[in-house]
Amino acid sequence: MKKTLATIAAALALAGATAAHARDQDYTVDFNLAYLLGTTLADARAAERQSPATVPSGSASAAADRAYVAPFNRSYLLGTKLAQAGSPEVAAAARRYTGQTTTGLAERGRYLVRTAGCNDCHTPAYMEKSGEVPEREWLTGTPVGFQGPWGTTYAANLRILFAKASEQQWLARARQPMRPPMPWFNLRDMSDDDLRAIYAYVRSLGAAGVPAPAYAAPGQKVDTPYFVFVPQNLPGPQARAH
Ligand code: HEC
Repeated sequence: MKKTLATIAAALALAGATAAHARDQDYTVDFNLAYLLGTTLADARAAERQSPATVPSGSASAAADRAYVAPFNRSYLLGTKLAQAGSPEVAAAARRYTGQTTTGLAERGRYLVRTAGCNDCHTPAYMEKSGEVPEREWLTGTPVGFQGPWGTTYAANLRILFAKASEQQWLARARQPMRPPMPWFNLRDMSDDDLRAIYAYVRSLGAAGVPAPAYAAPGQKVDTPYFVFVPQNLPGPQARAH
């Protein structure tokens, strides 16, 4: 069922009062609107862009209260009480009802991926575009290598990796050394729960893209673009003597 933009804009105003708490979670708001209106996510987004005034500005502190958002949305979607929406049964029912694949665990994984810097290297152009990269492209790996004394490495396509690996395999992989500049020691020090959350999130995205180029040993010629990771302008022996 497809609604006109005018109908959607009118309904946005109605939905506004309760959607305010989730305002900072753009996807969530759009998802709710789309659900409410029986329209597509793309149309809900278009309507929001067309009539931003009808969408509540919301409180910035809502973003900090992340734990609140998921149960809130469930209660909203299901017309149930917030207290009930926190229960695992209701959460499961909400997922069945909405076909939503992102569970609370995956939501946490998404947060970790964003804030622990995985996108910086594993998502093409994420740093260059200050994070303005569509989520469907996240973690698809990059064809631009990192060259240093270790050879040339490429940030892997994690979407393909996770689609193939079991949760157990992931937990084991995450604790093994990797070549620079992968900050593998940060991954090693993550709790099992956080690693599981990342797994749930990346799996929910599904496989996409192509594998990153293969590692090249030091001195081996590479055909791809690459960054050179070699410190420049280091102080000489004389400077160190002072
Ligand atoms: C500074 C850049 C950088 C950041 C930040 C980074 N990675 Fe990596 N990652 C790499 C590179 C480069 C490799 C390839 C290393 C190699 O070839 O051994 C890699 C490899 C990996 C691998 C191994 C893939 C395989 O094929 O086994 C995993 C898993 C991984 N990264 C996960 C993550 C996660 C999760 C995060 C966020 C917590 C993250 N990385 C953050 C650069 C980065």
